[in-house]
Amino acid sequence: MRTKTGILGLDELMHGGIPKNKVILISGQTGAGKTIFGMQFLVKGIEYGEPGVYVSLEEYPSELYGDFSVFKWNLGDMEGKNKLRILRPKPSDFGKKGLDLSKLIDDICSAIDDIGAKRVVIDSISILGLEYENVSKFRSHLLEFGNLLHGLGCTTLLLSEAQEERHIFISKYGVEEFVAQGVIHLYYLERNFQRYRGIEVRKMRGTSHSNKIHSMDITEKGIQVYSEVPMFE
Ligand SMILES: Nc1ncnc2c1ncn2[C@@H]1O[C@H](COP(=O)(O)OP(=O)(O)O)[C@@H](O)[C@H]1O
Ligand SMILES: [Mg+2]
Repeated sequence: MRTKTGILGLDELMHGGIPKNKVILISGQTGAGKTIFGMQFLVKGIEYGEPGVYVSLEEYPSELYGDFSVFKWNLGDMEGKNKLRILRPKPSDFGKKGLDLSKLIDDICSAIDDIGAKRVVIDSISILGLEYENVSKFRSHLLEFGNLLHGLGCTTLLLSEAQEERHIFISKYGVEEFVAQGVIHLYYLERNFQRYRGIEVRKMRGTSHSNKIHSMDITEKGIQVYSEVPMFE
């Protein structure tokens, strides 16, 4: 059984979509298109009859409503119809030890129950680590968080900021990829004073997939993957 991503051109790169109920990391540098990817996954999911929960740790829901109106996605309407739930943890949920992840999981669980969600997006997990003094503590909490997410019965996307070091992309804390059963990387690379967008299914347990880096674009319809076109021609 597959969860169709709804990203034009992407599902055929992995035989119809992401294997159901997996936790997938969507990594990429800033501006690569992670937030758009996450919201498109939920908006298309609603068209397929699968409600979704969006956990917005970086932006306020009001900002999201405005940003996504260019794609003609009426998020307020979807929320009103109980097809979409946007969660925005309050500053008081951030204690001395960072965000209370078990409270966040409880809130996600109630939202899933309320609307019968089949899809969850966390935007982003990189921000969860900012308040930890100790990276190893954050790593163990993130692994625990990942295990709890696996148990939710939803296909879950964890959006994650990637850093570039000598042209090798690594996740911010070096463990995010181990929490996930699949990794899709979004590229936004400079060449000859211009940036190019690309996408790669880097890891996907339970299915074979394309091993190429494909060209992609962001248009007024959202993200479009050109499955026949390599990133650099
Ligand atoms: N309507 C649009 N048409 C084309 N490109 C767009 C449109 N809206 C946003 N973008 C591009 O998407 C980028 C933002 O993508 P986003 O998903 O927020 O990135 P990330 O979350 O990875 O930082 C913008 O910087 C812009 O380049
Ligand atoms: Mg973003």
